[in-house]
Amino acid sequence: MDGPPLISQRTFDRDIAEVLIPRDRIAARVDALAGEIAGRYGGEDLTVLAVLTGSLVFLADLLRRLPLRVRIELVRLRSYRGADAAGGPVEVVGQLDRGALVGRDVLVVDDILDSGRTLARLGDLLADAHCRSVRTCVLLRKRRDDLPARRDADFVGFDVADRFVVGYGLDFDDMYRNLPDICLLADEPRRGRP
Ligand code: IMP
Ligand code: MG
Repeated sequence: MDGPPLISQRTFDRDIAEVLIPRDRIAARVDALAGEIAGRYGGEDLTVLAVLTGSLVFLADLLRRLPLRVRIELVRLRSYRGADAAGGPVEVVGQLDRGALVGRDVLVVDDILDSGRTLARLGDLLADAHCRSVRTCVLLRKRRDDLPARRDADFVGFDVADRFVVGYGLDFDDMYRNLPDICLLADEPRRGRP
């Protein structure tokens, strides 16, 4: 196909150490995931509740692969990551339109499941929102053997090691989200840094 090339790791120069999941593998998996999700909902209308900002790129690709009638709601969450291994509290930035979820089959979409606090917080927020059903979908699920009781997701794109990843929506300090591949940073942040 003609057109401007997607940006590459070169855009970020020496910041990127290695591509962990290249864009073609992501695309193939998102395709398959959309099929799994559609199969589960059996043609019912779906309300996708996307967790901003990290899910933005995944969301855009997933939506266009879902052969369902889809509504979109957005919620912006901010997590504070303290020194404690499970991370800090998760704050809702702005307003979640709970009225739009009443009676709906809701699929929460996030970029990555790490400590599980984000999904747990959303579970609490939706507990009395009178949804018809609530399921969760993440592109990445980080291996956290230290958190055996962590909240799990219903649909998972890839299981990954406990490493800090960027690209395809995932950021470090709000940077690298527009990288088309999922990558490791040369200077990998340790847990406890933002
Ligand atoms: P949890 O609440 O600890 O499960 O973490 C979920 C949120 O933390 C995600 O939505 C991301 O915003 C962020 N996060 C966790 N791990 C990473 C990572 O490796 N790279 C970028 N963001 C991450
Ligand atoms: Mg996030």
